[in-house]
Amino acid sequence: QDTTRLKQYEGHELAAKLYHYLLNNTTHGQTAKSYLRSRGMSDRLIDEFSIGFAPDSWDTLTRFLQSREFDLELMEKGGLLSAKNDGSGYVDRFRNRIMFPIRNREGKVCGFGGRVMDDSQPKYLNSPESSLFAKSRIFYNFHASRPVIRKTRRAVLFEGYMDVIKAWSAGVKNGLATMGTALTEEHAAILQRHIDEAVFCYDGDDAGQAAILKSIPILEKAGLKVSVAMLPKGMDPDECITKLGPERFIRETMEHPVSATKFKLLYLRKDHTLLGEENRKNYVMDALGIVAQLESSTEREVYLKELSREFEISLESLKADCHRLVTEQQ
Ligand code: GTP
Ligand code: MN
Ligand code: MN
Ligand code: MN
Ligand code: MN
Repeated sequence: QDTTRLKQYEGHELAAKLYHYLLNNTTHGQTAKSYLRSRGMSDRLIDEFSIGFAPDSWDTLTRFLQSREFDLELMEKGGLLSAKNDGSGYVDRFRNRIMFPIRNREGKVCGFGGRVMDDSQPKYLNSPESSLFAKSRIFYNFHASRPVIRKTRRAVLFEGYMDVIKAWSAGVKNGLATMGTALTEEHAAILQRHIDEAVFCYDGDDAGQAAILKSIPILEKAGLKVSVAMLPKGMDPDECITKLGPERFIRETMEHPVSATKFKLLYLRKDHTLLGEENRKNYVMDALGIVAQLESSTEREVYLKELSREFEISLESLKADCHRLVTEQQ
């Protein structure tokens, strides 16, 4: 059992080295390298994150592992190979993709994310679930960011590989990614052991913002403080860094995260037009519902004051209504 796992880790480590070598030293790798360059990836970043290239071939990794006398069935179970339909052997699982090795918390390669270089689907192919790779428990970049996460008791949560890597190059050394999947309670339990505060920096599109809204209570239930770094509408962190440059990305988004409550109030505006008395009143009532969830009355007052100012309603009325909601919730 233990030797099985060791072999599977060894296979992953070797595969990562092979893919990285093929990216740097083959003609087809050059195409992949140009793609990475076009996305603003320097050689240094490619090295730091051991990015690689799986060639457009059925047997490059398979033959490599075979020549080193790996048990191919075991490598298939680990997610590196696929079994042929007719049962006659194995083929490479990842073909013609840019390869991002994923390390577990101990720093061992336990899976890969592979990206196509055009518009074909799926855009990313990830390792399948296995005894090494459980998406609900793994963060991309956890191992490398661990020292800074420890020191700052803070982590920045991104959606994807590119976001983490580009943010890293912009100076964000405590960035993690959940790799598109929803943040789970298991993720939250792991974070809770290492940090006090999580800062969301998901994509500035509808999917990203909805994912933040859904994930906030999961982290808060684990006792974490949550804030949100807001991106320009429609942009993801990678695009933002490319378009604005690293300094502006840090200064304009990372340095001013909004509180989870503020985020919810901003999000609420999507469903409300704020024109006309009736609409404004509806918004305020829904906003009070959000503010009423806060445990501290001091904190509640901060947001009530803002609402009072913006909607020209007396603080007393807002407090009274909010208080009623608080007691109803208990
Ligand atoms: P780029 O287009 O390379 O910039 O990727 P992105 O990270 O901006 O992609 P997106 O915002 O669409 O998705 C965020 C993350 O979700 C990715 O980094 C992947 O980890 C994951 N993801 C995206 N598309 C797929 C897919 O087709 N299949 C799987 N399994 N995961 C995906
Ligand atoms: Mn290298
Ligand atoms: Mn996205
Ligand atoms: Mn994205
Ligand atoms: Mn992107």
